[in-house]
Amino acid sequence: MSTRSILIAGNWKMNMGPNDTADFFEQLDAESQKQIDGVIAAVCPPFVSLATAFDSRKSASAVKIGAQNVHFEDNGAFTGEISTSMLTEVGCDYVILGHSERREYFGEDDAIINKKVKKALLAGITPIVCVGEVLDERKQNRHFDVVKTQTAGSLEGLSASELEKVVIAYEPVWAIGTGETASPEQAQEMHAFIRDELAKLFGKEAADTVLILYGGSMKPANAGELLQKPDVDGGLIGGASLKPADFAKLVAIAA
Ligand code: G3P
Repeated sequence: MSTRSILIAGNWKMNMGPNDTADFFEQLDAESQKQIDGVIAAVCPPFVSLATAFDSRKSASAVKIGAQNVHFEDNGAFTGEISTSMLTEVGCDYVILGHSERREYFGEDDAIINKKVKKALLAGITPIVCVGEVLDERKQNRHFDVVKTQTAGSLEGLSASELEKVVIAYEPVWAIGTGETASPEQAQEMHAFIRDELAKLFGKEAADTVLILYGGSMKPANAGELLQKPDVDGGLIGGASLKPADFAKLVAIAA
């Protein structure tokens, strides 16, 4: 039985401006904002809603807040970008890095993601590093090679103790936003593979501490089965995290 916590993290993507964010926390029941042993709840709003998220949580809220991206430079001529010091100033606990949408639409590769991971760790922000194959890669049985390369490339140069501060999210791209959730068996198979790869790179002790989340159409109806798997340590959830009632259900299922 794993001693790892379960992390339920909502990736709100390009949704939920400040007003919607305030409404979300207004409607999220107090129970779901309490600290539950062994469970971490987090939401990752768009940048413009981060401050509102902190201000809107119930006073004793245990819900953590994360960002969806960050630049690897300290500051300077990077129009439109956000630095780690800005995220720490607003109080961010997490930052999602290497999401398939950033890889696809913004040309982020493992080398760029690796720079961002190291910068986030230096700033004391927990990176949630996303890896996952597209449908063709799975159909060609290349999914393990793809995830192995992404994992090694994104985490290159980290020490074992640094790895213990990283969260991994396995997000099969063909399951994101499609309703085509990976089966619990498919998720467990890939999560166990990732943990084995981490053990080869950083040692078993460090690998066993890492939370590996599943992402890709996770919702209250299927979360229970997925979370039963020994190497599934939570979820990185898009659509089903936008409504307070659904988010609360996911947190309750994880408990
Ligand atoms: O980062 C999580 C996201 O990619 C999953 O989205 O809507 O399939 O839960 P969704």
